[in-house]
Amino acid sequence: MKGIVLAGGLGTRLFPLTKVTNKHLLPVYNKPMIYYPIQTLIDAGIEDILIVTGGNSAGDFLRLLGNGKEFGLSHLSFVYQEGEGGIAAALSLAERFCDNDKMVVILGDNIVEKSIKKEVEIYQKQEKGARILLKEVENPGRFGVAEIKNGKIIRIVEKPKVPPSNLAVTGIYMYDSQVFDIIRTLKPSERGELEITDVNNRYLEMGQLTYGILDGWWTDAGTFDSLLKANILVAEKEKMKK
Ligand code: G1P
Repeated sequence: MKGIVLAGGLGTRLFPLTKVTNKHLLPVYNKPMIYYPIQTLIDAGIEDILIVTGGNSAGDFLRLLGNGKEFGLSHLSFVYQEGEGGIAAALSLAERFCDNDKMVVILGDNIVEKSIKKEVEIYQKQEKGARILLKEVENPGRFGVAEIKNGKIIRIVEKPKVPPSNLAVTGIYMYDSQVFDIIRTLKPSERGELEITDVNNRYLEMGQLTYGILDGWWTDAGTFDSLLKANILVAEKEKMKK
């Protein structure tokens, strides 16, 4: 199983914090943001990790992370995303690295309270297809939202004006290598991006999409309010450990 952290983009919703640096290098309590998704993968037993980056300060990731020694890793892989193409476009750069393996993809601004190890183990036993993790949120309209009927996802809508449920699709996705063929068939959305929601809906059409509900709190950190929330949640968690 491979791990991929997507840490590109221009972080425009955090401007001017992201005017000279990359969103994923900003602090969340006592660590740079990208430390959290890397640790989430490692805690799930994944040690073969690729960082996809781009935008401002892409070179700083290498300076910050090196070979991953601080995380107990002996090696980290990096790939550079030119321009802005959306989450699915960033993921397409991982094709060579994945080499037909299954993968856990995590957005570089997604932070979780608890381990996702059990979910990854469930997916390891899934013969093929994809598995996504959902979480109840108060403001579903800001995310991809899953509509569930009789315990099954029937549709995922990206940032719906009228959300069909309060279940956000978190930025943690488990895919098999079919994902790269799917991405090749995608067309840019209205915001000009290759949408990860379109990838998930394609797996759904193929009858190969399963889901779990994430345990513990989850937040992204791509807006001023969610970045503040992430700082507070992580600070509380760190202080509980002491
Ligand atoms: C992206 C995805 C969305 C998902 C969210 C999770 O949104 O498009 O489906 O719910 O990440 O963080 P974006 O960060 O591009 O607004």
